Amino acid sequence: MSNTDYRKCPQTELPEHAFIGRSNVGKSSLINMLVARKNLAKTSGTPGKTQLINHFLINDNWHIVDLPGYGYAKTSKKNRKSWEGMISNYLLHRENLVATFILIDSRLEPQKIDLEFISWLGEKELPFFLVFTKTDKLTKNRLSANIKAYREFLMTQWEELPVSILTSAKTKAGKDEVLGIIESLNEEINA
Ligand code: GTP
Ligand code: MG
Repeated sequence: MSNTDYRKCPQTELPEHAFIGRSNVGKSSLINMLVARKNLAKTSGTPGKTQLINHFLINDNWHIVDLPGYGYAKTSKKNRKSWEGMISNYLLHRENLVATFILIDSRLEPQKIDLEFISWLGEKELPFFLVFTKTDKLTKNRLSANIKAYREFLMTQWEELPVSILTSAKTKAGKDEVLGIIESLNEEINA
């Protein structure tokens, strides 16, 4: 189901987990990797493909939510404002939302827009995890240097570092870890 307004999202008690990040970071690819389906979430080389709040029902007992990417430069200011409103309303008001997975391109140095978004979630006391994407695209050394830089940067703002997972939609790295986190959160809720 796809929506622009959180109030029209599926009326359900089922727990849900949202995936968000800069446009083109690999959200849809990661979701397809997690659920082992080639094309559940639409992927593309063109940034800004996902423009709606997309709910995917998994095993009849939880939802994955693919959110539109932020920081898509080619959109109008008005469009950007309405995306921001849609995303923040969803994150603040959706009662079944359990956790948000913030996707970060492992190839890049810390990006302002990601850091701002992380701070915003922190301020609002919304639980989140960091998911580094596309780890197959760089060498092990480069990867660990980038992750280290990220951690060092976050340490200047946070007392405790957020849990982070290294993933690749190509090699399926991190799949069990992400699903494990989701499963244990769902179990806690159902307990
Ligand atoms: P929007 O919905 O447009 O915001 O993008 P998105 O974040 O959903 O990204 P999407 O999954 O569509 O991926 C964008 C591009 O990156 C596509 O060309 C993917 O094939 C590629 N890609 C995504 N994840 C990976 C990965 O782990 N490894 C590699 N090598 N390529 C990836
Ligand atoms: Mg997408």
